Amino acid sequence: RVLRGRPRDLAGRKIVVSAGGTREAIDPVRYIGNRSSGLQGYALARTAVARGAEVTLVAANVVLPDPAGASVVRVESAAQLREAVLAASDGADVVVMAAAVADFRPATRHDAKIKKSDAEPEPIHLTKNPDILAELGERRRQAGDAVLPASDPGLGVRDAGDARPGRGAYPLVIVGFAAETHDVLANGQAKLARKGCDLLVVNRVGEGLVFGTPDNAATVLVAGGEPVDVPLGPKEDVADTVWDLVAARLG
Ligand code: CTP
Ligand code: CA
Repeated sequence: RVLRGRPRDLAGRKIVVSAGGTREAIDPVRYIGNRSSGLQGYALARTAVARGAEVTLVAANVVLPDPAGASVVRVESAAQLREAVLAASDGADVVVMAAAVADFRPATRHDAKIKKSDAEPEPIHLTKNPDILAELGERRRQAGDAVLPASDPGLGVRDAGDARPGRGAYPLVIVGFAAETHDVLANGQAKLARKGCDLLVVNRVGEGLVFGTPDNAATVLVAGGEPVDVPLGPKEDVADTVWDLVAARLG
């Protein structure tokens, strides 16, 4: 796809995008995974580079060529994705969590391959993974409480003592993704509030859409604003709508 003709409205901005789907190890050869292809996250990374941003792409198990101009960090598990995203978001302006992060992982990882026997297999016990998006939102909320008057929600505003506005231990703009099958807007709005993010891209799943296909249809929910519908089209369209809204919030 041709990426010419985009505004350079993200020039000088440091942006972190996570993409793909995490794998949670059961033993050295098996894992619990999901169907995320990474296409939407990669489209976000490519378009952000085209609009002038300095992009770190944290890729979980994606089999796509590295987007030119982005720095790519490869991870496998949710724990590794969390480490990489938190490290890259120190000093970033924007974090977009497009990755499908496993909600649960096996409570124990077997050191040796599990062997079958005549007995019934042991159940796999699961434990919760940390919620990376909620953690980013919470970090920003706490930092905001510390430096801003309570009357000011303060999105995008920094302590004057910061060396440079937009560069601190938490991102200025936080974007999440959600795949909802029903009550899309109500579930999405609740998730947006719960996660403390600025934008939530709600994919319209089903009908052969989204997973592994180049096209996507989405509604972008905006904290304190009206939702924006993106009609069925290339994943770059969703990406550009996200960057339009991000650029507006960055001012
Ligand atoms: N997410 C995350 N860490 C997790 C789980 C999800 O950062 N452990 C992020 C995803 O990258 C996505 C957003 O949270 O941007 C929403 O993910 P989703 O699975 O829709 O929300 P959950 O809060 O996990 O709720 P549920 O799966 O129960 O709908
Ligand atoms: Ca989830």
